[in-house]
Amino acid sequence: MASLPPGTSPGPGAHPHPAPRHPRLDPLADRYAARTHGMKTSEIRALFSVVSRPEVVSLAGGMPAVTALPLDAVGSMIGELVTGMGAQTLQYGSGQGDPRLRERICDVMALEGITDASPSEVVVTVGSQQGLDLVTRVFCDPGDVILAEGPSYVGALGVFEAAQARVRHVTMDDDGLVPEALEQALLECRAAGDRVKFLYTVPNFHNPAGVTLSEPRRQAVMEIADRYDLLVIEDNPYGLLGFDREPMRALRARDDQRVIYLGSFSKTFSPGLRVGWVLAPLAVREKLVLATEAQVLCPPSLTQYAVARYLDTQPWREQIKLFTELYRERRDATLESLEALMPAGTTWTHPDGGFYVWLKLPHGLDAKLMQPRAVNAHVAYVPGIGFYADGSGREHMRLSYCYPEPDQIREGVRRLARVVEAELELHATFDAVDTGTFRAVRGGTQVPGVDPFVGPANSDRYGDRG
Ligand SMILES: Cc1ncc(COP(=O)(O)O)c(C=O)c1O
Repeated sequence: MASLPPGTSPGPGAHPHPAPRHPRLDPLADRYAARTHGMKTSEIRALFSVVSRPEVVSLAGGMPAVTALPLDAVGSMIGELVTGMGAQTLQYGSGQGDPRLRERICDVMALEGITDASPSEVVVTVGSQQGLDLVTRVFCDPGDVILAEGPSYVGALGVFEAAQARVRHVTMDDDGLVPEALEQALLECRAAGDRVKFLYTVPNFHNPAGVTLSEPRRQAVMEIADRYDLLVIEDNPYGLLGFDREPMRALRARDDQRVIYLGSFSKTFSPGLRVGWVLAPLAVREKLVLATEAQVLCPPSLTQYAVARYLDTQPWREQIKLFTELYRERRDATLESLEALMPAGTTWTHPDGGFYVWLKLPHGLDAKLMQPRAVNAHVAYVPGIGFYADGSGREHMRLSYCYPEPDQIREGVRRLARVVEAELELHATFDAVDTGTFRAVRGGTQVPGVDPFVGPANSDRYGDRG
């Protein structure tokens, strides 16, 4: 920090900055805005350096299989854009986004039953992640409540935390969000005087749960939204990646005023281009454009033109089909291996699209605490705790099958199953300790309560077992 020039002193009424609490760690520690206090590294980013090691099979990251794209064709297309369209591709653009791209986005949304969207209601964003951030900025003050599935997309939780909103999770099951639980949450919030700003939901091939909101539940959720005057944020990056059936009809197709829809080209084309969008009623759209102008001025021109040109000139529907066939094969490899190898008591979801399986460990095991052993065994996953704002999810983990080849997936699940089995054995041993029948662990007498792998510091994790 710049100090005052020699011979000057703070003016009357000015207070010198208080001494930083941890001057050597971070001299600015006392200056950060309150909203930064809730910010933390996501479970996924924390794993990044580990999972990129070649010996580790990563079932952690949700990276799309972009190598399945026709890279030469995409490369020439982008090159021709710059030479053909010239400086326009390298210039600032409109805050709302390229009009041609917004038209094409409406064609894409029509595949999910949104047939009445106008390009004027679309705002192009830097991935749907920016869309989430904009919507949250426009609607949420600190302390407001957001209802969100439990578990929820980790990137959304990060945005909500940064806005100092409070997340209240709503239970989901194999058919997605449970409408009765939603209504109950609304009633409880109403009784507590909480300001519920919106429901955040990922209805298709949920991240991380892998499940899809059933047709009757879509109806029920929208009826509840109507009854309680609830705004719904429908986050739908995976909707076109179904394996077995046509895309489901979007919530936005049922109500164009109550639902704000977030879309993305990250999973159907390329995440590196960072192109997504928000479809919102006109009044909201105006606020979103102002917010995006304050944030980034405008979305990048080149990547918008690239996506518009891709949709205009390349067989993108066939490409999506190719992606889904590839992901289906990987999903099958995952489910078959889990079925064959996982110890009794382990359960998991059966996605029919998208990227993710949500796995529940046998009772008492903790995915977060098991993680170092898994990494030691050269397999990575994302612990479930990262997908909840309230610290639950310890028995769960997310497995992503989108990126590794089927053989790698089988090997990864084999390694994971061994780790879970070892963890179960360890637990059985400590159960024996608890009941006084404990003898020895790994060839030596073991002090009860001490984890033979990680030492006494972490051994209290067994304290909460029933
Ligand atoms: C549910 C969900 N929403 C939003 C995003 C953000 O996607 P992007 O910003 O790449 O469009 C992701 C990415 O994984 C996601 O899974």
